[in-house]
Amino acid sequence: MLDREGEHLDGPAEAGGELLILGHEAVLSCRFREKLTVFEYTISTTWRPVKMHSGIHLCYNEVNMNEKSTTLEDIVSLAKRRGFIYQGSDVYGGLSGTWDYGPLGVALKRNIMQLWWKMFVEARDDMYGVDAAILMNQKVWQASGHVDTFTDPLVECSNCHARHRADKLEDPNKCPTCGMSGTFGEPKQFNMMFKTNVGPVADESSISYLRPETAQGIFTNYKNVVDSFYPDLPFGIAQQGKAFRNEISPRDFIFRSREFEQMEIEYFVDPEHWQEAFEQWVALCKEWFTALGLPTESVHELEVPEDDRAHYSKRTIDFEFDFPIGREELMGLAYRTDFDLSNIQRVSGKSMEYTVKGTNNRFVPHVIEPSFGVERALMAVLASAYREDEQNGDKRTYLAFPEHLAPVKFAVSPLLKNKPELVEKAREVYQALKLKHGAVMWDDNGNIGKRYRRQDEIGTPHCVVIDFQTLEDNTVTVRERDTTEQNRTSIDELIAR
Ligand code: GAP
Repeated sequence: MLDREGEHLDGPAEAGGELLILGHEAVLSCRFREKLTVFEYTISTTWRPVKMHSGIHLCYNEVNMNEKSTTLEDIVSLAKRRGFIYQGSDVYGGLSGTWDYGPLGVALKRNIMQLWWKMFVEARDDMYGVDAAILMNQKVWQASGHVDTFTDPLVECSNCHARHRADKLEDPNKCPTCGMSGTFGEPKQFNMMFKTNVGPVADESSISYLRPETAQGIFTNYKNVVDSFYPDLPFGIAQQGKAFRNEISPRDFIFRSREFEQMEIEYFVDPEHWQEAFEQWVALCKEWFTALGLPTESVHELEVPEDDRAHYSKRTIDFEFDFPIGREELMGLAYRTDFDLSNIQRVSGKSMEYTVKGTNNRFVPHVIEPSFGVERALMAVLASAYREDEQNGDKRTYLAFPEHLAPVKFAVSPLLKNKPELVEKAREVYQALKLKHGAVMWDDNGNIGKRYRRQDEIGTPHCVVIDFQTLEDNTVTVRERDTTEQNRTSIDELIAR
């Protein structure tokens, strides 16, 4: 039927059929749901399918026995069940392309954003933070080219009137909503900015937009920062905050949404030295991925060809990640030249030139822009952390977050919640840990095994249990998420960690 490493499957596999593959190690069972396109398999071998074609080829790679491909459904369902991320306006049937962060999601998101701020702003002496208004003068978006060119190609199906992004269709002639072919007209350019009016009079002069990138709030403050601080070149201005895009087809959970957050840096350089700075930022982006705990082999660099680059860019590298939905853009690094500052200079009539200290050397600086999407970073962190294994014959799901990103660092439990002396001691430990770490959870629901499972699923690295021995010798059990090992530690040592 099928060779272990080979790729042959003889005969058609019908929906619901079952295939047993005798590898040299063990037996793998595959269940086909729809011919050969969708399948389930049980891991009972050191070989697993890594590719599934709609034809008759299967490929195998040697993998960790415990490893299973994480699907988007795994992540979405855990995120909702455990209070990370919910559909926006869920109670009213949702609003497409919007997501709400629950208690654990907001903690995870803040940990990511704070880590970024520490690494790229606080830890450096060439970086300045700003927090610009989301609503800006419409001239910003005219000068930046967004009013004219921030568009995606849109097609409408003449049968069901569904609208789709033309360049993302699997089959450019077939409507994915109604399945009809040949029903699309010519693509139209659709501007993705959300338009609004500022003030009570809705006319041309009051038009504004929800910003589609945080970058322009940086460029418009470049002169302010230079006037206030007169930094040496090169220097950077950083901003984090919401961005809005009226995406034609929001999709794949938080991957492509209409409201999301960006963390952007405009790094101003002498035009002679842009290449050096670009290479430095490639290395810094990689350090960031390591800090997020992303496996190096899951991050890929794509040199974006000229035709696919944004209108302002002379060079772009997209860092792509192997998401559960496939390899997709995680963030971008662009050489924006002096495009933005020169446009501001032209439209505002104010000089954007920088004078090198102690010289008459004046020029409009060029810009290297690393642009990080928070949601995509968070989705990559969730996907990298998601694990399933077996503990004492039971399937366990856990999130192996790096400790510095985990929304909850410690869970504290009394062994029995109906023993006041244990509860009192546990409360003491809880308060002391909370004072130090903040992100500490009290958990006395269900038996200890259930508490561990629940904490594993939200990625809590350490569970602390107070039992009768604690009352005698001031030690507690600390159970580690990844190894499930339990160690006895003194309370003083635990708090000093
Ligand atoms: N200032 C440059 C800029 O905005 P971009 O490639 O359009 O460049 C940068 O966006 C990053 O913002 C992307 O790499 C991605 O991480 C994130 N991003 C863009 N559109 C998004 C969307 N609709 N939903 C979620 N994240 C998005």
